[in-house]
This record gives sequence, C-alpha cells and structure tokens, in this order.
Amino acid sequence: MNQDTAPTLLLYSSHYGTARFYAEQLAAQRECDLAPASSVKLTQLRPYQTLIWIGGVYSETIAGLETLQRYYAKLMAASDAPRIAVLAVGAAPEEAAASLALPGALAGIPLFYARGRWNPQAMDFKDALMIKMLRAALARKPEVAPGWMRQLLESEEAQDFTADIYLDPVLDFISGR
Ligand SMILES: Cc1cc2nc3c(=O)[nH]c(=O)nc-3n(C[C@H](O)[C@H](O)[C@H](O)COP(=O)(O)O)c2cc1C
Repeated sequence: MNQDTAPTLLLYSSHYGTARFYAEQLAAQRECDLAPASSVKLTQLRPYQTLIWIGGVYSETIAGLETLQRYYAKLMAASDAPRIAVLAVGAAPEEAAASLALPGALAGIPLFYARGRWNPQAMDFKDALMIKMLRAALARKPEVAPGWMRQLLESEEAQDFTADIYLDPVLDFISGR
C-alpha cells in the first residue's frame, strides 16, 4: 500500500471475488490503493483523504463494515477527517437493494450499490446449506420471497450481473464530484 501519495483507499470484503473485482475496476480508473477491510488498522487509514468500504451483501448485511464501525468516530474527530463512502455488492436488482441501510452511527454515510454475481456451484458448504434451506422454505411458501430471489434460488446456473455503469457514481465520489 502506498501511504505517501495515493488519496483514496478501497477496503474490500469479498467471499467470492465480486466486491474485490469492483475494487480493482475502480483502482484501474482512479489513483487508489486496495486493502482487505477486515485486517486494516487505524494508522493505515490516516493518510487517506477518501476511504471506501466495498463489501458483498449477505442476508441483507454488508460484509466487512466492522473496521468502519470501529474507527469511524476516531476518523471523523480528526481536523482533516476523510471523506467516507460504502459500496454494497449484491445479487438483488437495484430497486430491491434500496432497502439496504448502514447501521447506527454510519447511517449518514453515502451508500452506493453495484449488482454482483450469483454462482450456486461455487458456494462454500455453509452458504450452499443456507440456500438449500431457503429453497425448501420457498417450496412450501413461495410468497415469502420476492420474484428476483425466487428466480435466483430456482436456478443452478451461474449469473453475472456486474456492469461498469454501477461504478459511475463511485468514480464521481472519488473525484470529489
Ligand atoms: C448465503 C448468501 C446470502 C446472500 N444474501 C444476499 C442478500 O441478502 N442480498 C443480495 O442482494 N445478495 C445476496 N447474496 C448475493 C451476494 O451478495 C453476491 O453473490 C455478491 O456478488 C457477493 O459478493 P462477494 O463475492 O464479493 O462476496 C447472497 C449470497 C449468498 C451466498
């Protein structure tokens, strides 16, 4: 990580690589450093003017925000407080993702959304089990899940919803627009 010159740090938390993919896309277009969100220390965050946490959405929760929650008050107390945003990456269509929210003190932070990927073949044991249970619940009561979720759960096919256009507002944020 270059701590002397780069003004933006992207902190990613990615189980299956999509949040990291978007972080790399941003870094290819703006001067940014990248680091895993879970292991970052406050001293590593201090040199940056802009910090963006990027995390996959799991059961309506954005992964990797623990370090943002831990350091947020300290970061904002500094006279040269950084600009902070969050980019959530989920399989839901944008309209459905409008219900996503940042917890507690983070509620005022700009929250962006990018649609990610869905690949039942690549899921680890725990996620595959959860999906199996959800499918069983849906077979009994289809109305408990919205249409987009039923469509994903009913298919064994990998689906890629990633698109550059989701990053436009994040690129503007990095540029200070
Ligand atoms: C167990 C499980 C739960 C998920 N829950 C949600 C969800 O609540 N909302 C959503 O939009 N996407 C959900 N997803 C889809 C992921 O957010 C999507 O695959 C995303 O691309 C993962 O990003 P990552 O590979 O960087 O972790 C879920 C995926 C799994 C495996």
